[in-house]
Amino acid sequence: MSAENTTRTQVGIVGAGPAGLVLGQLLHLQGVESVILEARDRDYVEGRVRAGVLEQGTVDLLVEMGVGERLQREGLVHHGVELRFGGRGHRIPFDELTDGRGITIYGQQEVVKDLIAARLEAGAPLLFEVEDVMPEGIDSDQPSLRYRHDGQERELRCDVIAGCDGFHGVCRPAVPDGVLTAREHIYPFGWLGILAEVEPSSDELIYCHHDRGFALHSMRSPQLTRLYLQCEPDEDIANWPDERIWEELQIRFECEGWSLKEGPIVEKGVTPMRSFVAEPMQHGRLLLAGDAVHIVPATGAKGLNLAVADVRVMAEALVKWFSTGDETLLQSYSETCLGRVWAAQHFAWWMTTMFHRHPSDEDGFMARLQRAQLDYVCSSRAAATTLAENYVGLKKVSGG
Ligand code: FAD
Ligand code: DHB
Repeated sequence: MSAENTTRTQVGIVGAGPAGLVLGQLLHLQGVESVILEARDRDYVEGRVRAGVLEQGTVDLLVEMGVGERLQREGLVHHGVELRFGGRGHRIPFDELTDGRGITIYGQQEVVKDLIAARLEAGAPLLFEVEDVMPEGIDSDQPSLRYRHDGQERELRCDVIAGCDGFHGVCRPAVPDGVLTAREHIYPFGWLGILAEVEPSSDELIYCHHDRGFALHSMRSPQLTRLYLQCEPDEDIANWPDERIWEELQIRFECEGWSLKEGPIVEKGVTPMRSFVAEPMQHGRLLLAGDAVHIVPATGAKGLNLAVADVRVMAEALVKWFSTGDETLLQSYSETCLGRVWAAQHFAWWMTTMFHRHPSDEDGFMARLQRAQLDYVCSSRAAATTLAENYVGLKKVSGG
């Protein structure tokens, strides 16, 4: 490799999703150098419609990092959520149950846009359309990332690699066989998600239990509604023309005195539901964060928030190491993160199990259990508090 194709940095970050971008910004603010390598182009990354619910802790961090100006202006703060079942709505008041905490609705792609703008403004390196990224030397103290950019083979030498490259990335598979233990649960259903140009039909999110399957009403702005329907995990979107989607949503959300507003559908996609954790979240000079090392099923909206929580721990550990040589926080990175990861896994599994129609539930046994659980959550302050404090984000997790 010629000298001009070899560069050096302190932290080589793979992936410009929320995890990689938040990490890059936190390191930049503390004077630690990094280079972010992203496989896709900027428009693709900024246009990818995914998460929308930010926990208070995520919002506070983005504001502290100086990327919260538009979020605070445009984000929709919610202090409760509706659980709908048996055709009736029940509100869970987050603020009353959690000392005034709530969530903010602000699209993941807006968070990503704000972070990319901040990175470019700071003049910190972020390369898009990078091909064939390959972590090397993670067992040594001189790891590197080989990649191709603009038709040139390149090498980025670094002190540590941050694998923030999502579930299908290259960093987790770069860990030698036998080091990681992966635990997984695949759910026998998926979500069909749409974005519609119509004002939301409710001021708050609605999680809806129905004999035909789960449905979720969310939003992105006063003019954009986000809706999800439980579907087959491998559902062919071609089987769902717009009219069928609205018809099904109308049936599942039916509730006296309430109606679902319809509008042009501008985005559609199917997401499978999966729980996955690989442990430990580090090996040698490779640290993994976000979807690269754990996936939660979407019910409960924890994925983006967990990715941000991981890199907050990682940034603190790296800053300490670079500034003092003290490795203690770095060595306990995985252990520190896993308490929160498993707490979020449990919450996401619980919400998913409570709301989705199980395909093998022929006599409705599971559905009756779900209704009993939902009745309890909506009638017991203790049970409602369990949902509320997990939903807005646990402040402290033991081991975390
Ligand atoms: P990603 O966002 O996947 O980013 C990884 C990046 O790495 C990508 O930009 C990718 O292009 C890049 N990359 C991959 N491979 C390579 C490679 N080889 N080389 C270089 N770059 C690479 N979470 C919530 O908290 N709240 C929600 O409301 C919510 N709703 C969701 C709804 C849907 C429909 C979906 C699909 C997900 C939802 N999630 C939600 C989950 C959330 O979107 C993810 O958990 C989050 O994107 C994780 O961020 P990340 O940075 O770890 O990974
Ligand atoms: C959204 C996504 C979720 O997974 C969820 O539980 C709530 C809202 C959303 O995209 O708005």
